[in-house]
Amino acid sequence: MSTVTAKAAREQRITIPSLLVRKKRGERIAILTAYDFTFASIFDAADIDVLLVGDSLGNVVQGQATTLPVTLDEIVYHTRLVARGARRAMVVSDMPFGSYQISAEDAVRNACRCVKEGGAHAVKLEGGEHIAATVERIVAAEIPVMAHVGLTPQAIHRMGGHCVQGRDQAGRSRVIRDAQAVEAAGAFAVVLEGVPEALAREITQRLTIPTIGIGAGVHCDGQVLVMHDMLGLSDWAPSFAKQYANLGSLASQAARNFAEEVANSKFPDARHSYQ
Ligand code: KIV
Repeated sequence: MSTVTAKAAREQRITIPSLLVRKKRGERIAILTAYDFTFASIFDAADIDVLLVGDSLGNVVQGQATTLPVTLDEIVYHTRLVARGARRAMVVSDMPFGSYQISAEDAVRNACRCVKEGGAHAVKLEGGEHIAATVERIVAAEIPVMAHVGLTPQAIHRMGGHCVQGRDQAGRSRVIRDAQAVEAAGAFAVVLEGVPEALAREITQRLTIPTIGIGAGVHCDGQVLVMHDMLGLSDWAPSFAKQYANLGSLASQAARNFAEEVANSKFPDARHSYQ
């Protein structure tokens, strides 16, 4: 492939059909969360396939204890920022708690806002069998849906914490049923969060749509991480979240250096002043 063709191929927008082909070919899918233009542009240029405007926004951007308080307006706003930075990556809005549970009609209306006002290419929602009818309605409105089963943080109060799901036989069967239900409802991919590696492998083999793992082992068709965890910007991260950089300590050191230079009247020097 010539350099020009390779560049054009790299810049082609990631689409739903292209993700399905990736699963068939055994080519992995890399997903990161993003919440603003700057990081969306950086990740897009680094060939991240999908940018997820996660409701983890509540934890890592807003400093809240759970994702539950995040509003649809906030997701739409952050989706707009991310969509401006995404030239190649697909942009997925995470539908927040309360925006799709009340009725299918409400869910379709809210999913439309993510696409129309936010510029999302798809939406994500948590839940399996009990949410399948809603997935079907959103898909019927021509909005692609990424589903999310296993450990679903919006169900934190039912689960009693962020607990690994599917460890016993009943739990295993439930996660499998949930994944199959959302596939049958028309989801184009499913996030498997906080499930044992062997269960994620079995689901990945059973489904024709890509599985995207987070705390679900290496056998999924793709992986997603929260950007603050993988960049070392969180004060706490789950054990499955590998840290690929320590931007937190770099930023802290830079801020200390700045404060010291201000205190010593070293900044601004002549090079950083107008004469
Ligand atoms: O909100 C989020 O960031 C997510 C991912 C962790 C899958 O749902």
